[in-house]
Amino acid sequence: MKVYEKLLLENKAWAKEKVTDDPQYFDRLAHIQTPEFLWIGCSDSRVPANEITNTQPGEIFVHRNIANLVIHTDVNLLSVLEYAVAHLKVKHVIVCGHYGCGGVKAAMTNTDYKQVLNMWLRNIKDVYRLHNDELNAIENEENRFDRLVELNVVEQVIHLAKTSIIQRAWKEEQRPHLHGWVYGLKDGLIKPVFEMTAGTPIDPLYQYDM
Ligand code: CO
Repeated sequence: MKVYEKLLLENKAWAKEKVTDDPQYFDRLAHIQTPEFLWIGCSDSRVPANEITNTQPGEIFVHRNIANLVIHTDVNLLSVLEYAVAHLKVKHVIVCGHYGCGGVKAAMTNTDYKQVLNMWLRNIKDVYRLHNDELNAIENEENRFDRLVELNVVEQVIHLAKTSIIQRAWKEEQRPHLHGWVYGLKDGLIKPVFEMTAGTPIDPLYQYDM
């Protein structure tokens, strides 16, 4: 059996088990999608959103990319954000990073990862530069890496608040609540590191007249 064929076999077994447990399971899911959460996480295969939060299909709208970045020219992310906030009307947006993130680690080096990855990782270098003093004061390299993972999540949450998508929803519907979390690969636990409730003041330069 080829490795990918195992996935298809497992899928058959999973679907059968679901229907055995609950005959209406897929009928219900096919007709409604009302998740309360948008999850912006890292593509890392060890950080599956549903599994680590013990949530079911239908509960979390998910976007993942390398190092869970919120970049204002990323049409993919912005489409997901707008759909989740303006149409699905999610109450919470969670940016979840993770300790040991390969993307964050790579951004701390001088390695040339070639054009596209360099371009992506440069955003994390900007986070480092923004917090240069704090990070360079941490002597232990592992601790500095962990702190950059946390600060990266904080900055991505702030990036969310800079979008007119979030500002409009905050003004008109007092949601969503923004969360910055970091998942620990070593213990499986999520640590909340930052949050912004609807209406949290941001730098006036980023505020839109609405
Ligand atoms: Co990662």
